[in-house]
Amino acid sequence: MRDLKTVSQLEVFRNRKRILANPLPFHSENFKKHGDTFRVKVAPGKPIVFTKDPEIIKQVLQKQQKKFQKSPLQTKDLAKYIGHGLLTAEGSHWRAQRRMIQPAFHKKKLAGLLGTMQLAIKEELERLEANKTLDVFPLMGDLAFQVVARALFSHSDIRERMSKLQYITEANQKMLIREMRQPYLVWWFKLSGQIKKHLKYSEDSRKLLNDIIEERIGLKREKDDLLDMLLKATYEDGTHMAREQLIDEVLILFTAGHETTANALSFTLFLLATHPEIQEKVYEEIKEHVRPDMDIMDWITKVPLTQQCIEEAMRLYPPVYVIDRMAKEDVDIADYHFSKGTLLLMSVYELHRHSDFWKDPQTFIPERFAKDRLKEMGSYYYPFGAGPRMCIGNSFALYEMIMTMVEILSAYKITSLSQTVELNPLISLKPKEVKLKFTNRNYV
Ligand code: HEM
Repeated sequence: MRDLKTVSQLEVFRNRKRILANPLPFHSENFKKHGDTFRVKVAPGKPIVFTKDPEIIKQVLQKQQKKFQKSPLQTKDLAKYIGHGLLTAEGSHWRAQRRMIQPAFHKKKLAGLLGTMQLAIKEELERLEANKTLDVFPLMGDLAFQVVARALFSHSDIRERMSKLQYITEANQKMLIREMRQPYLVWWFKLSGQIKKHLKYSEDSRKLLNDIIEERIGLKREKDDLLDMLLKATYEDGTHMAREQLIDEVLILFTAGHETTANALSFTLFLLATHPEIQEKVYEEIKEHVRPDMDIMDWITKVPLTQQCIEEAMRLYPPVYVIDRMAKEDVDIADYHFSKGTLLLMSVYELHRHSDFWKDPQTFIPERFAKDRLKEMGSYYYPFGAGPRMCIGNSFALYEMIMTMVEILSAYKITSLSQTVELNPLISLKPKEVKLKFTNRNYV
């Protein structure tokens, strides 16, 4: 068995301020110093291992996935705000939920939602103004939230309630990040009533969703949206989801589905704004293949370069930049021994820029995702994770992002004042801001 190089507790302590502000440079330095896999000592008896080794990642997420589970960060800390559903559940409960919900995210089912999703996108983008500079990150946040909201609750009068839900979802995430990054202050968060306040927010959001569900059941009319599919879905024994479980799943779809997509969209827009020659090619592709009278699903498949730009943006800036798993038993992988309880942090960010597997890894080259090359990259590319817990919303997200890019790039030329983007890695990898200028294509 190989020995793991170790980053000492003292080193972590010395770097704590940097790590708190942005842990990525610290990760990167240690990967350079210690190789693709190393151990970090944070507290006695709590082994943490970082890896960007594709073989280990494949084993943990796919081949030996049964020996691992999600970390308490998701199953406990996040679950206390959004409940126990797909993202946060484990074992047989998770399996039953996944089997039941998976069909709602099937491509054929999603095809029926595209019109509703497109309407939400168009409505949000009405806020774009030509010849003005705007930070697109908050706009993409609102857009992604509204798209999930409308896919779930089409035609309902929900705007005001969704604003409240968005506020709560984002406020609770901020609280969770403070608990994660400043664990030594958790006693104070409890004593000062801050955690209680946020748990009360969660209760409010559950009540709000319960009201919407009650209204829907009272309607007695089919809508064919995600809520209808969840209401109709059955377990193997033919029973339906209990109300509390349904609310958990809806909350989880908002949490898992809006921020990740908003980040990916913002980074894609930034990269296209700073690569005008590629933006022009995307514009030409859209102009040639997308017509308003066409079926949406038809044109979505006819803009491969647009899709490749999104895929390449998620390579450089993966919204889920670290995937975590905890060993349920002792495991040997790639000549390393991981003892029971080891927390494995798989750096998707580092793997996506690993020079052994990517040519010019720091450069934006969307064509590297051309169709015939996708297969060989599968083992080094994990924007949506892999194995049984792979993102259930990956096609949903991809369609939403293609529709948004087409909507924006067909109407505007985008430029950026800055050639760099400052990162803000929290639970997901966000940009600090993405200030872009939109010039109307009709006037140029
Ligand atoms: C660009 C956008 C997105 C990215 C990058 C992304 C990424 C991911 C990743 C990496 C995972 C696996 C995490 C792990 O293994 O620990 C995941 C899980 C999940 N995602 Fe996404 N996601 C995106 C959009 C969405 C959307 C739009 C939805 C729903 C509308 C969604 C719902 C979920 C759910 C429910 C899970 C948990 C699945 C399970 O454990 O069974 N995601 N996502």
